[in-house]
Amino acid sequence: MKPLFRKPLIAYHIGILLLVAVSGIALSQLTTQYIILLSILVVAYIILIVIMLHIYDNYMKPIEKASQIVDEFVKGNYRARIHHSAGGSIGNLNNKLNVLARNLSEFKIKEQVREEQLTTVIDNTQSGLVLIDEKGYIHLVNRKFLSMFGGSAADYHGYLYYDVLANETIHETVQQTFLYERNIIHSLTQFIGVDKKYIEIIGAPIFNDRNMLKGAVLLLYDITHLKKLELMRKDFVANVSHELKTPITSISGFAETLLNGAMKDEDTLQHFLTIIHDESTRLQELIEDLLKLSRLEKDNFELVRTTVDIDRLVEEVIPIISQRAEKKTIDLKVDVQNEITLEADAQQVKQIIINLLSNAISYTPENGAVHLRIMDEGDYIHIQVSDNGIGISEEAIPRIFERFYRVDKARSRNTGGTGLGLAIVKHIAEVHEGKISVDSEPDKGSAFHVHLPKNNPASS
Ligand SMILES: Nc1ncnc2c1ncn2[C@@H]1O[C@H](COP(=O)(O)OP(=O)(O)OP(=O)(O)O)[C@@H](O)[C@H]1O
Ligand SMILES: [Mg+2]
Repeated sequence: MKPLFRKPLIAYHIGILLLVAVSGIALSQLTTQYIILLSILVVAYIILIVIMLHIYDNYMKPIEKASQIVDEFVKGNYRARIHHSAGGSIGNLNNKLNVLARNLSEFKIKEQVREEQLTTVIDNTQSGLVLIDEKGYIHLVNRKFLSMFGGSAADYHGYLYYDVLANETIHETVQQTFLYERNIIHSLTQFIGVDKKYIEIIGAPIFNDRNMLKGAVLLLYDITHLKKLELMRKDFVANVSHELKTPITSISGFAETLLNGAMKDEDTLQHFLTIIHDESTRLQELIEDLLKLSRLEKDNFELVRTTVDIDRLVEEVIPIISQRAEKKTIDLKVDVQNEITLEADAQQVKQIIINLLSNAISYTPENGAVHLRIMDEGDYIHIQVSDNGIGISEEAIPRIFERFYRVDKARSRNTGGTGLGLAIVKHIAEVHEGKISVDSEPDKGSAFHVHLPKNNPASS
């Protein structure tokens, strides 16, 4: 019985009652037996109404309420509750419905949390992820995948993989995963803007409880940095071999010529031995430089930090360099601000100054000028080595800190250079948490700047 119907029913009963009462009064002149009968009827009628109201309130109303609550559950609203107090089995049913609602509500919250966690993990994972069903439709792509292949999730969800993914390697991976039902690994290249990215793709089949293929997951890893490292390693090995080969070939060639009889001639002997000596010195320097670099690159490399007095350090460096400057009649000027000290590895700082000054002298023609300045700039000291030499072209500047890079290979080799000097300087600056930069113009000269923190950043 709907509440809507309850009021007209009551009104209807009251109406009947009034009608009976009025007609009873009107017929009061009738017999007393009739009045008694009428009264009994009225009382019975009232009792009937009371019983009906009781049945409605105690049985029909709670069932109606329970049905409404179940309707709410069906709609997904698990927060709905029955507040109607009822006893007996109806009350029991209401309580159980409330418990069910609470359980469903908790279950829904847990599901939401789990779904959010899963989405967060999937979206923040550093590899691209694509979920494909057994018919080839895409069900999920994560954020990393979108950053690799562009578009939005809506461009992929619900589409066949070969309609929305153009790359042939991806098609092959999916097909082989479905065909062989095992993990398949391939690699591909993809352009993100102008950057070429190397991507490793793994197709993994998904099976259901009955071991039937339900689809595949594609995982895409960006392996660009690994590829670059591999290329660098290959380049490095090729460069080292080449650099070692040149002096060794020359030494063995000249030694062979001498052994074949040339040593009998005093002048040739002298000349060839000088070459052999120079080449072996070069070989030794190269190996020393390589060892320096490898020591600096070691993970557990530790600086021997002390308080370095820059004045003293420069006094030790200048005699090593000035001879070479004098030979080329280069004017070597030194300006060191008074009393600068810094927390650093003295030997390494010395190496920076030697390498920069030695370059400045090597790449400055005779009668040129080289200027070393060391300044206190607050938290940093600034080492500046400038020259008016051959300078460096704009395209070459970013490359001069690479190992073995020389702008002019022939000229550098003539000066005995191995192309490792600046790589060492850069490494030393970096292990001290400092910076290196260069201003240069061809035929005008160059200025190298190294900034080193005065205090040990690790201890401050
Ligand atoms: N002051 C400079 N003026 C012009 N070019 C320079 C100067 N310093 C460095 N370069 C260029 O940078 C290249 C790399 O320098 P780097 O010191 O690393 O190697 P190198 O001088 O050739 O050999 P070495 O390892 O013996 O120092 C040089 O070959 C040279 O072309
Ligand atoms: Mg050099």
